[in-house]
Amino acid sequence: MKINRNYLDLKESYLFSDIAKKTAAYKAANPDADIIKLGIGDVTLPLCKAVTDAFHAAVSEMGEKETFRGYGPEQGYGFLRDAIRDYYKSEDGVELDSDEIFVSDGAKSDLGNILDILSKDNTVLVPDPVYPVYVDTNVMDGRKINYIAGNAENGFLPLPDDSLEADVIYICSPNNPTGAAYDHAGLRKWVDYALGRGALILFDAAYESFITSKELVRSIYEIEGARKCAIEFCSFSKIAGFTGTRCGWTIVPAELEFDGVQLKKLWLRRQTTKFNGVSYPVQKAAAAVFTPEGLSQIRENLDYYKQNAKTITDALDKLGIWYTGGVNSPYIWLRCPNNMGSWEFFDLLLTKANVVGTPGAGFGAMGEGFFRLTAFGDHDRTREAADRIVKLLK
Ligand code: MLT
Repeated sequence: MKINRNYLDLKESYLFSDIAKKTAAYKAANPDADIIKLGIGDVTLPLCKAVTDAFHAAVSEMGEKETFRGYGPEQGYGFLRDAIRDYYKSEDGVELDSDEIFVSDGAKSDLGNILDILSKDNTVLVPDPVYPVYVDTNVMDGRKINYIAGNAENGFLPLPDDSLEADVIYICSPNNPTGAAYDHAGLRKWVDYALGRGALILFDAAYESFITSKELVRSIYEIEGARKCAIEFCSFSKIAGFTGTRCGWTIVPAELEFDGVQLKKLWLRRQTTKFNGVSYPVQKAAAAVFTPEGLSQIRENLDYYKQNAKTITDALDKLGIWYTGGVNSPYIWLRCPNNMGSWEFFDLLLTKANVVGTPGAGFGAMGEGFFRLTAFGDHDRTREAADRIVKLLK
């Protein structure tokens, strides 16, 4: 028996586990420290009422002989796929067929799983800094990875140029970790580049619900031609607080064909073999997000987080610290003060302000010297964290 030795090329542990370990060690040594966590992008508001009502009702159905359900369709129940289809139509004017929508247990899983249907010979292009899952899942498969640099000069929104070699391109917009989001012109360039090269874009739209500006793109299918070159991943985690409930979706358009094969067919084949779908109550709960009550309740929650983002950016403005994100995004990506390294700044904030954030270096070499704060915290605690940061750095 041989192991997959590609795993030995990974960093020893996942970024957010490292941060959790460091924070726990500090807390163990300083039990009285009142630590505020603005590190991992985990939500703090509970599921909204429309969602929990649907969840309860579905659990009750599962307890009655007449309404009990066993295995569901691997691709997801029709009621949820139709609700997602209608959401795209009403929010973005994007027309999808329900058959192109695959319900999953979250965007993170599908972003990794999709690689099953792509050859290991492909060269992958990832922006740096980047959500670590894109890199790690490709390292696990031994794929060649090229990087394209995000930096303060390009607003952390790198654009393609013809010298770049890529068969598969990752784009996350609004971006994790930088909070920067592409407008139509920027994404148009990526779609043209992919179509010109015969490359595939893997578009992570997990944070689309934070976009309020009409200039910015929520779904890559708003760009003409994207149906021929892009798969889109999205999640109920950030839109409706499903980080612990687990539900997401992946869109594989019918026109997406490589080597004369429809990717939708391959993905369906993969899912029917390796996945048995998301539980019925979770899918019912997810569908409730897109009812009028659900939408109005989740918008209140999104506004709550947006106010946190404003609390943080106001503090940074006061300190004269450069940042991206915070508007159209739950992440604020700031330049570490006084040319500090990002782990150095992490230690300073942890030990002197008892605030936890995420060091930019954890997202790639270009993240060095930057730092990420999340707006997913509690209002009072976020205000307290912002005050502590101002006090420490002013
Ligand atoms: C993050 O903090 O980057 C996110 O929570 C990661 C994720 O959604 O998996």
